[in-house]
Amino acid sequence: MNASVIDTVVFPVAGLGTRFLPATKASPKEMLPVVDKPLIQYAVEEAIAAGARNLVFVTGRTKRAIEDHFDMAYELETELAARGKQELLDLVRGVLPEGINCVYVRQREALGLGHAVLCARSLVGDKPFGVILADDLIDGGEKPVMRQLAERFSATGRSVISVERVPRERTDRYGVVDIGDDAGPLAPIRAIVEKPDPADAPSNLAVVGRYLLTPRIFELLETTAPDQRGEVQITDAIAALLDDQGADAWEFTGKHYDCGSKLGYLEATVEYALKHPELGDSFAEYLKGRTPAPEEQ
Ligand code: UTP
Repeated sequence: MNASVIDTVVFPVAGLGTRFLPATKASPKEMLPVVDKPLIQYAVEEAIAAGARNLVFVTGRTKRAIEDHFDMAYELETELAARGKQELLDLVRGVLPEGINCVYVRQREALGLGHAVLCARSLVGDKPFGVILADDLIDGGEKPVMRQLAERFSATGRSVISVERVPRERTDRYGVVDIGDDAGPLAPIRAIVEKPDPADAPSNLAVVGRYLLTPRIFELLETTAPDQRGEVQITDAIAALLDDQGADAWEFTGKHYDCGSKLGYLEATVEYALKHPELGDSFAEYLKGRTPAPEEQ
């Protein structure tokens, strides 16, 4: 299967990250590390594994940390080389493999995810492209989710969005799709609504941070009205796409961690630490032998 149907992936990293303040005062939440890599690096690795060579970051007021992370760290590299720390040098240089192009565009105001994606329009051009929300960390195992989407797209040529089942009482936190009686895992979307009340939700299939979209979405975003909070929602533009080119929902294989929330972030940290090649065993030992603090007893 040709995974290089997407050459470009967009990373919207311009949200305010209010749920993580003050940690996100001077750097975006996408720079929060899970064990030893920032969230954005997991996302970039996923994009590259799906065949992307062009990475477009839509940044906000805290753009420097991301740019610096993917830039050459000249002083650090010189210092590591002088000290003969080859392994660390490889680690630092390996943050961005050869041949990968990073570009940055500014979203001047956090006017919503749809608006952030629209900011990338001139850098994406007239081609299908991926969108990864780095705060939705997904452990896809052998096949990262963006690659799963690329495979679906190369078979259908239609926009495809990753979804997962969530407890019904939580539908008001997500975009939710209606696939009718279709059994999935790939199904045409009949309707999509942003953050519906559990009582009104058409299903419990929630959209999670991975999209593969045709460039038609940009034209639809141009005419998408902001919601009551003044934000342009990608969900509304996708709703318009349904009557136009259509789009599919893909119930992905993998474990999702909502790292935009503190609890999801902590869960990811524990699971990735347990799987870490150097740390896993000793962290598991620590958890097993952990003495509860007096207030927990
Ligand atoms: P969230 O809905 O999690 O919002 O954004 P947020 O502002 O980042 O975080 P909280 O809720 O205040 O804690 C989902 C994704 O969309 C990006 C965010 O960076 C995140 O990856 N985003 C959101 C933008 O790039 N621009 C926006 O205007 C809104």
